[in-house]
Amino acid sequence: MLSVREMHVTYGGTVRALRGADLEVADRQVATVLGSNGAGKTTLLRATSGTLRLHRGRIDSGSITFDGTDLAGKDPAQIVGMGIVQVPEGRRIFTRLTVEENLRAGGLGSRDRAAKATAERRVYDLFPVLADRRSSRAGLFSGGEQQMLAIGRGLMANPKLLLLDEPSLGLAPQMIGRIGEVIREIHRQGTAVLLVEQNATMALAVADTAFVLDIGKVSLNGPAAELAATDAVQRLYLGHGATEESEHGPVDTGASATNPPRTTRTLSRWSA
Ligand SMILES: Nc1ncnc2c1ncn2[C@@H]1O[C@H](COP(=O)(O)OP(=O)(O)OP(=O)(O)O)[C@@H](O)[C@H]1O
Ligand SMILES: [Mg+2]
Repeated sequence: MLSVREMHVTYGGTVRALRGADLEVADRQVATVLGSNGAGKTTLLRATSGTLRLHRGRIDSGSITFDGTDLAGKDPAQIVGMGIVQVPEGRRIFTRLTVEENLRAGGLGSRDRAAKATAERRVYDLFPVLADRRSSRAGLFSGGEQQMLAIGRGLMANPKLLLLDEPSLGLAPQMIGRIGEVIREIHRQGTAVLLVEQNATMALAVADTAFVLDIGKVSLNGPAAELAATDAVQRLYLGHGATEESEHGPVDTGASATNPPRTTRTLSRWSA
């Protein structure tokens, strides 16, 4: 479905944000991208949604295709039209508009009224709390409810692939669990999801496959369950075995004599 190959991205011509990143999302899959601050996770989503230019970013080299079509050179609206929708980090809903108005804004790219009505019903089914308060102003909502609205607005364009940037950020644990359930349900209904997260516990629980991004390059990938069991992910992202952090610093993606650092390690049962 989505295939990113050897992606190099810079901002303002100088800041190298992606340095040869590779990633695959298969049809109807949930894939997650983990990585620390500044690793390039958001950049990867922007490259996919065609929004790099809005941030003074540029693809220097590499390819990005969706169902075999090259995305390079397409503008954000064309990419939404192809079925890729990004829900940006930090929610970015219209706080002075109602729930209903926010959702309609998400469907503006399409003239298909029936499809929009179906999408709206789907959103209200997924998020009953939004249905109950459809005439309320979004600014009155809690962080979790605003995140639901942001995801709902993304779904209004009927995406084949939904890009989520840190949906759990700043939310209470119970709400993070709820967001995880919603992602699973969206996936069950047939939409693929590319989930960028710092909350590795939630992300690895809902994802089929996972990628660890490390300074602009994928350092580890594989089935989410298998990745969750590796020492590196346990230590760095799941908060286990923290005592092993040594004077060598915390960044150790399993490098050894046979696995030099900064190359991609592929786990046994992984197939792209
Ligand atoms: N608009 C921009 N202009 C200049 N540099 C940027 C811009 N956006 C991101 N960067 C830089 O690119 C690199 C990758 O940033 P990116 O936002 O993709 O990382 P991230 O993994 O999403 O981080 P976080 O977890 O903090 O959201 C960082 O060094 C960041 O400072
Ligand atoms: Mg980010």
